[in-house]
Amino acid sequence: MYGKDMETIKKENMNLADKIYIFDTTLRDGEQAPGVALTVDEKIQIAQSLDKLGVDKIEAGFPASSKGEIESCRKIHNLVDCTTVGLARTVFKDIDAVLDADLDYMHTFIGTSPLHRDYKLKMSKEKIIETAINAVEYGKDHGLTIEFSAEDATRTEGDFLFDVYRSVVDAGADFLNVPDTVGVLTPIVTKQLITDLKNEFTTHISVHFHNDFGLATANTLTAIECGANQAHVTVNGIGERTGNSALEEIVVALHAAYGIDLDIDTTQLYNISDSVSRITGIKKPVNKPIVGDNAFAHESGIHVHGILNNALTYEPISPELVGHSRRIIIGKHTGANALKSKLDEFNIDLNEEQFDNVFSQIKALGDKGKTITDSDLKSLAINEISSAKETPIVLKGLGLLSGAIVSSTATVKLEIYGEEKETSATGVGPVDAALNAIRSLIQDTLDVELEEYNVEAITGGTDALAEVFVISSDSEGNKSTGRSTNEDIVMASILAVLDSINKLLLLQRVNQ
Ligand code: KIV
Ligand code: ZN
Repeated sequence: MYGKDMETIKKENMNLADKIYIFDTTLRDGEQAPGVALTVDEKIQIAQSLDKLGVDKIEAGFPASSKGEIESCRKIHNLVDCTTVGLARTVFKDIDAVLDADLDYMHTFIGTSPLHRDYKLKMSKEKIIETAINAVEYGKDHGLTIEFSAEDATRTEGDFLFDVYRSVVDAGADFLNVPDTVGVLTPIVTKQLITDLKNEFTTHISVHFHNDFGLATANTLTAIECGANQAHVTVNGIGERTGNSALEEIVVALHAAYGIDLDIDTTQLYNISDSVSRITGIKKPVNKPIVGDNAFAHESGIHVHGILNNALTYEPISPELVGHSRRIIIGKHTGANALKSKLDEFNIDLNEEQFDNVFSQIKALGDKGKTITDSDLKSLAINEISSAKETPIVLKGLGLLSGAIVSSTATVKLEIYGEEKETSATGVGPVDAALNAIRSLIQDTLDVELEEYNVEAITGGTDALAEVFVISSDSEGNKSTGRSTNEDIVMASILAVLDSINKLLLLQRVNQ
């Protein structure tokens, strides 16, 4: 790094504004993401969360699009403390709709690039300027604060773009917004453009950058470095096509990389990201910065070792800063330290031999391409413990009366945590009767469901050995397997079920 540290480079090259506004457009550009349509209640829920989070402005919608949109913008405006913004084309009926929604801040836009002029608006440059001026003046006459966007600014001829901005500033625009409508900007162009705007205008400079090349956040931060004082963002970066700059990325990067603290409660970022993902149906990729499932997840032995000694070795910020949590993942790359810490987390104490067995099973599963969930790990550990430790329930006696016409009856005696209990039950066959008796004997100890029951004869003939495999679950959703082989199928079934029940009981003890 040729002798200069990062902080010196930033100080020497930045022109930061004193106040940076966060303009959230999740409810407008975010709602334009393919497949997203929000109800009024959902919009209100998101708006209230954003307000609580501390954003400065919420673009609540495009009032001219429907009566319902006017209503929802008005409702949001009445419910939140931050500024509520309504979008409008540079046409009077759109501006009237913003006024109908009782809003006092309008974001108005008109396409300025040759593509928009020739193929969409069919307007000359002069007409574009005249239309923009009329809209700004009309809005100002009606008492609105006005943010003006030159749509597709970044594909507009530089001279013309500046002419447009000059005209709307003269007409009274309060914020000049620069939309990178199809996400073609690069950081170096952003730097030049924003620096030139800052050199000419004293008006607030805002940026609205799309993510088509994955550069929205980098470009937005570059704009802020050059003096832009407002960033348009959306939760999880949702928006048209590949979306917009992500709120969580901008806020956290400003805090962590630039030491700029906005009045945003960063600890709410993870929750708001989750609820926007749930409400919109747009899933977050696991590797999404800040809020993705893997943002603070570690698997490799080397990394986990570092993390366990000092989390900053492999994390840029603490997960708590954004309301997320750290996860140690058990899998192919797991080291002994990670496994130990994970077992500690579950209060599972294994001796050396048990630990080595679990460790090698994890490696073997990993080599087969399997991922190991927390409950898989618990099951592997419990299998080890249950083969060595005391068994909570032991079969002490079994009597059967099987009837071909009438139902079968089974009398089962169990020792449950040292106390003997006996009962009889009926069923459609001896296995069913025996399992009913077991269920009734353990009902005060465990609420158990038999999820799967498979029986296989593993040798031929009438005295064939039967192997029974079962999966049971408890009311907490824990699952366990049980297996037993016996020449008597009823006995094999009972022992397999007891095997799985015992594992569930051990698991519950571990989880307490
Ligand atoms: O991306 C864009 O150009 C927009 C405008 C409405 C500002 O969203
Ligand atoms: Zn946009």
